[in-house]
Amino acid sequence: MNTELLVSDAAHFRIDYEINPYMHTELQPDPAAATAEHAAIVAAHLAAGRRVEHVASAPECPDMVFTANAAVVRGDRAVLGFPPPERKAETSYFQEWLVDRGYDVLEAPFPFSGQGDALACGDLLFAGYGQRTDRRMHEVLAHELDYDVVPLRTVGPRWYDLDLALAVIGPHTVAYCPQALDDPSLARLRGLGLELIEVDLGEATRLALNLISDGTTVTMTRGAPKLAAMLRARGLRVMELDTTQLTKGGGGVRCTALTLDNPPPRGSR
Ligand code: ARG
Repeated sequence: MNTELLVSDAAHFRIDYEINPYMHTELQPDPAAATAEHAAIVAAHLAAGRRVEHVASAPECPDMVFTANAAVVRGDRAVLGFPPPERKAETSYFQEWLVDRGYDVLEAPFPFSGQGDALACGDLLFAGYGQRTDRRMHEVLAHELDYDVVPLRTVGPRWYDLDLALAVIGPHTVAYCPQALDDPSLARLRGLGLELIEVDLGEATRLALNLISDGTTVTMTRGAPKLAAMLRARGLRVMELDTTQLTKGGGGVRCTALTLDNPPPRGSR
């Protein structure tokens, strides 16, 4: 699970605008600390045996460190994100990188937060909507990437992306914050027969769920000791990382990595 990741860097990470409730232009990241924080996250991926690809950040793209929003990738196909206007300039850099690597790259016809609102779990795709992703994207993702889409609506701007509200821990295990999803979404999620781990509102708002699990190692923020303990109790190795600087942009560990190796559908492409 999830062993090849596309990251960028924090060289141009700034708060130039406020497009989620965590961002405040008067609360700027410390450049050296942000670079060190990002480097430590990348080092943890490598220590966990994950492969890491790098796309250089561009000066006019202060949020480019959050590569998860660039696209969602399955097999050799990628559907690009369709970000808010403030982040539009990023798309061409990611598009170019993906095309250069030989991916079949499709443009999104509707607003779409990329992997931020599209978390793969085998053939399932937990697909967020209600904030940055237009629900019509779900049909596009089902059709273009052959996923069984599970639509999940997040309930407010704190959950502007689904990857803050839910995390795939293993092929049959998902962690989530119940207060972040509407009732039909909770019913849908609870009806899937998966093992579910509940994360409380306090830890979830400290971006506890913005983690990466490869089924063996979990890399996550240091701010969520209860979730870390629950994961360790399940036999997972947990690496807790500082996310103080990234949090000023409203992102954590998961936001800084686009998964490149979601397995393709069986017997296809
Ligand atoms: N400042 C960025 C934004 O608001 C943070 C994105 C975090 N990405 C994520 N996948 N949740 O767009």
